[in-house]
Amino acid sequence: MLKGKWRWMGLAVAMAVTVTVLGSCDTMKQWAGAEKGEGAMDIDVTSFGQTPDGQGVRLYHLRNASGMTAEIMTYGAIVVSLEAPDRDGQMDDIVLGYDDLAGYLKETPYFGAIVGRYGNRIGKGKFTLDGVTYTLATNNDENHLHGGLKGFDKVVWDDEPVWRPDGVGVKLSYLSKDGEEGYPGNLQATVVYVLTNKNELRIEYEATTDKATPVNLTHHGYFNLTGAKRDILGHELMLNADKFTPVDAGLIPTGHLVDVEGTPMDFRKSTPIGARIDADYEQLTFGGGYDHNWVLNKRSRGMTLAARVYEPTTGRVMEVRTLEPGVQFYAGNFLDGTLAGKNNVVYQHRYGFCLETQHYPDSPNKPGFPSTILRPGGKYQTTTVYRFSAK
Ligand code: GLA
Repeated sequence: MLKGKWRWMGLAVAMAVTVTVLGSCDTMKQWAGAEKGEGAMDIDVTSFGQTPDGQGVRLYHLRNASGMTAEIMTYGAIVVSLEAPDRDGQMDDIVLGYDDLAGYLKETPYFGAIVGRYGNRIGKGKFTLDGVTYTLATNNDENHLHGGLKGFDKVVWDDEPVWRPDGVGVKLSYLSKDGEEGYPGNLQATVVYVLTNKNELRIEYEATTDKATPVNLTHHGYFNLTGAKRDILGHELMLNADKFTPVDAGLIPTGHLVDVEGTPMDFRKSTPIGARIDADYEQLTFGGGYDHNWVLNKRSRGMTLAARVYEPTTGRVMEVRTLEPGVQFYAGNFLDGTLAGKNNVVYQHRYGFCLETQHYPDSPNKPGFPSTILRPGGKYQTTTVYRFSAK
């Protein structure tokens, strides 16, 4: 059911620019809400430039009925901006990233991207499946990280607008070819982002394959609920997890599940991220702070509350619910003040945090971990919801 109508952008200038940049009249179409104005959901699509090999990149501007906005581009399925209200109703952009495509093409630690075919690390870039050993691209010392040299965060996805009774979004599709980055099988992946009228960013993932392959997709948004005014150490975090997966010095899980009780990894009660991040604890030394997978307490196979984050100066709250068994909490330890992002804000150490819902890292080499193997005829299907409010 379509709630809006395709319409042509009226400006000759816009047409000329779009034709030059995108090379297709089709892309000049703009999706507009039936009734524009206050309270109307809306999707606008504009050009966001092109990749060095000439592929056009589109930017979806989403607005829900309560005025929250998100911008998502087809390169990397990246959430470029996300504006949420504070306790006074003041909107601010609460994700890190760049003003333009050039920034993302130059250097990004996966700002806002969909990571795939496998989120996080696969040890030594190797795994054995059905008796065959596969060698993946290694891009993190000897290990494979976030899909390799050119993961799903660095490709242009196909797109179409999504209208739902309760929100607006974009459906992004990407065919990852057999052998890409070393993975077996043609993997057809789709990711639907929906900005709902409950102020949620809902992410629905699906994939099918023609050969058995590991799949572990995640969203790598860097959140800063202050609106990137300061680092994230004052954010108060609750993680719904009694256990985590400890790692070795290369951040590869040992295969054990360890109780958080009595360690700086215990976030079962809401605690400022900065309270213990530099504690004398070997796991924190390995990660340079928090950069670990927590094992979510799951009472059912349905959506589970994974995390709640409260930012005291603005009152913003983010809740994360997921079907996934784990979440990688990464505290932005590798941000070091060398990247200047949107509005020229310099992203200092720990200026954003990620809550990457996922299966555990290195699962293809850890028989004791929940399986990440997708087989022909099967369907990978998972959902994660980030919900925003203020108090
Ligand atoms: C993940 C990893 C980190 C780091 C970031 C990106 O969260 O676990 O170690 O690679 O992505 O910089």
